[in-house]
Amino acid sequence: MDRSDSAPKVLVTGGAGYIGSHAVLELLGAGYPVVVLDNLSNASPESLVRVAQLAGKPAPLVVGDIRDATLLRELLAREKVSAVLHFAGLKAVGESVEQPLAYYENNVGGTTTLLTCLAEAGVRRLVFSSSATVYGDPSEVPVPVDAPLAPSNPYGRTKVMIEEILGDLARSDPRWSIAILRYFNPVGAHPSGRIGEDPRGIPNNLMPYVSQVAVGRRAELAVFGGDYATTDGTGVRDYIHVLDLARGHVAALARVLEHAGAFTVNLGTGRGHSVLEIVRAFEAASGRSIPYRIVDRRPGDIAQCYADPRSAADLLGWEAALDLESMCVDAWRWQSRNPQGYSGT
Ligand code: NAD
Ligand code: UFG
Repeated sequence: MDRSDSAPKVLVTGGAGYIGSHAVLELLGAGYPVVVLDNLSNASPESLVRVAQLAGKPAPLVVGDIRDATLLRELLAREKVSAVLHFAGLKAVGESVEQPLAYYENNVGGTTTLLTCLAEAGVRRLVFSSSATVYGDPSEVPVPVDAPLAPSNPYGRTKVMIEEILGDLARSDPRWSIAILRYFNPVGAHPSGRIGEDPRGIPNNLMPYVSQVAVGRRAELAVFGGDYATTDGTGVRDYIHVLDLARGHVAALARVLEHAGAFTVNLGTGRGHSVLEIVRAFEAASGRSIPYRIVDRRPGDIAQCYADPRSAADLLGWEAALDLESMCVDAWRWQSRNPQGYSGT
């Protein structure tokens, strides 16, 4: 649906990053004009150059920080946005254990600054990127959205704290309209092969690591643990195509534009895949072999986690449509055409 000139403008914090850039493309395709605010601490501006090319529409970037209230006030006075997709944040679990203050300051402090400036500007519609990490080691799978919250690291605690702040805000003023989206494991890339995940340094996450082994940037995959109580002993997760996630944001945005109040949903497929299943699926998609070695468990990892996504179907009419094969085919297209990510351009 193209909403053309009358469509509400959307501020996308962290929109130059992996998930944000795919969401910006989906927003533009749905007819929403955007403005991105990103400090480029974990992204390249090239992602948005390519998004604009793919969309045939502008994807303007303001390079700046959500902790900068002066800049936010100027931006909100100038841009007249109606809603915000809030992706900006730090996301590396291990780094959050080593540098907790950086995580609380950036993620929690940045969000309170953003919310204060939004309230001042009268912008009270927000979609927030939360994470399945809020459940910690889940008490049951598939994980229902009302499962107990038990984050096990500072990164996860920033997400729970922000969720609580957003709940308090919605209770304090009924004009706020807030969607909290708990993503499971986002993977894959836009099928054009033009935008995708481009982690700095050694990837922490499975799919980018596997992609880099397939393309020859890394020698072999270390599989963290082969003795979990799962089908083949390796960890099981709910991998979700980033395009499905992007569609979920547009659905959540449509809801926050129409209904006040706060709601929380899981965005996952409802299916779990083991590490070895991912390796086999990626080998099939890429035609490359992925050498691997089973090593010790990674501290803090859990055996399995996959979503009960029914709340998203009920509230948003959304469900994931793309399967593991598409996730791997699209991740490989991106990786093989951009072996060094955006820095190769
Ligand atoms: P990403 O690092 O690619 O994107 C985050 C973006 O935010 C980056 O472009 C970064 O430069 C920007 N940023 C960070 N701090 C900022 C600040 N203070 N001001 C302005 N910009 C800032 O990560 P992603 O994978 O696209 O994740 C997006 C969001 O989704 C994050 O909030 C993350 O915690 C959450 N999330 C990610 C995953 C995942 O596995 N990728 C899972 C669950 C939730
Ligand atoms: N794994 C390996 N080798 C690797 C990397 C990962 O075997 O090199 C395994 C892990 O042990 C786990 C699975 O692959 O079993 C997935 O690991 P990821 O690091 O890709 O994902 P996690 O589920 O551990 O964590 C991710 C994000 C968290 C987020 C969580 C839920 O890193 O920030 O998904 O959204 F909270």
